[in-house]
Amino acid sequence: MFKILLAEFLAPGIKRFEIEAPRIARKQKPGQFVILRLYEQGERIPVTIEHSDPERGTIRIVVQSIGKTTNLLNSLNAGDSILDVVGPLGKPSHIEKFGTVVVMGGGVGTAMAYPTAVAFKQAGNRVISIVGARNKELVILEKELRAVSDSLMLTTDDGSYADKGFVTDKLRQLIDNGVRIDLVLAIGPIPMMRAVAEMTRKEHIHTVVSLNPIMIDGTGMCGGCRVLIEGKSEFACVDGPEFDAHKVDFAVLVQRNSMYRAAEQKSMEAFQRDTASQIEAVRAENKGACAAQGDRR
Ligand SMILES: Cc1cc2nc3c(=O)[nH]c(=O)nc-3n(C[C@H](O)[C@H](O)[C@H](O)COP(=O)(O)OP(=O)(O)OC[C@H]3O[C@@H](n4cnc5c(N)ncnc54)[C@H](O)[C@@H]3O)c2cc1C
Ligand code: FES
Repeated sequence: MFKILLAEFLAPGIKRFEIEAPRIARKQKPGQFVILRLYEQGERIPVTIEHSDPERGTIRIVVQSIGKTTNLLNSLNAGDSILDVVGPLGKPSHIEKFGTVVVMGGGVGTAMAYPTAVAFKQAGNRVISIVGARNKELVILEKELRAVSDSLMLTTDDGSYADKGFVTDKLRQLIDNGVRIDLVLAIGPIPMMRAVAEMTRKEHIHTVVSLNPIMIDGTGMCGGCRVLIEGKSEFACVDGPEFDAHKVDFAVLVQRNSMYRAAEQKSMEAFQRDTASQIEAVRAENKGACAAQGDRR
């Protein structure tokens, strides 16, 4: 049982949690993730570790409400518990002194890119961050990312904050202004990562993306997270989640991620019909399990 110590909304539908997980906090490296299961019959979902504090024995995650499980998780608060948190999983980001690194975050991808941006800076790179969101309300971690970046550029799709447009517009600007870029890291929705890959391929700029296929066990056993890299099958949970963007078959990723859309929609509709009692059921189940754990001590 993993206790939630802190829970706060960073934006509508986007919540940050601090969770007691001392073993994971000691081992975590930037780019790695955990797989959570909220209750016994719940599905497993992968979430990137945004920060870890080995001294306090805590990790932080940032979660966007998308479907049933993320909505359920974002209904929990400090004092509630999560049944399983498994990790750290996946290969850590490859960190070295590349020179100038452009870190691009789209939506909740900004939180996933943040720990790697910190590590790039600590390794002596010049870090240029580009953050994009649909609108002003959905911009997250601006202050945190600015603190570890030599410069930060911001876009919103609707122009309600900073410059109107997409993160790729800013990347184009840098390239057209002759800025030497040694590496691009892009994390966000698939269309964004795909657009960045197409742009940098033409410019011969090494580019890394963090892929988000459906994951179940996170150990390379179930095959759920199979992705096609240069025509070869790889498992994002053990071989990734970061891959060379120019080798990724994004069409296969999109197709595989939409395989369960009907079932996901059905389960979300059932959740919406009965939200309060499902949240209460998770709380009651985990409280019971906590008490049982206490009895065994
Ligand atoms: C390595 C990795 C790291 C991630 N990190 C974050 C993060 O830091 N913050 C965050 O908000 N989201 C993150 N995600 C995405 C997150 O796992 C999905 O949003 C979540 O699983 C959706 O579950 P759901 O039940 O709410 O939605 P559903 O309605 O079940 O699904 C909605 C969509 O989410 C995706 N999805 C569903 N189930 C899974 C699953 N088991 N594994 C992966 N994707 C799934 C699919 O694309 C699906 O179409 C990450 C995904 C991966 C693979
Ligand atoms: S999640 Fe099962 S093989 Fe990767």
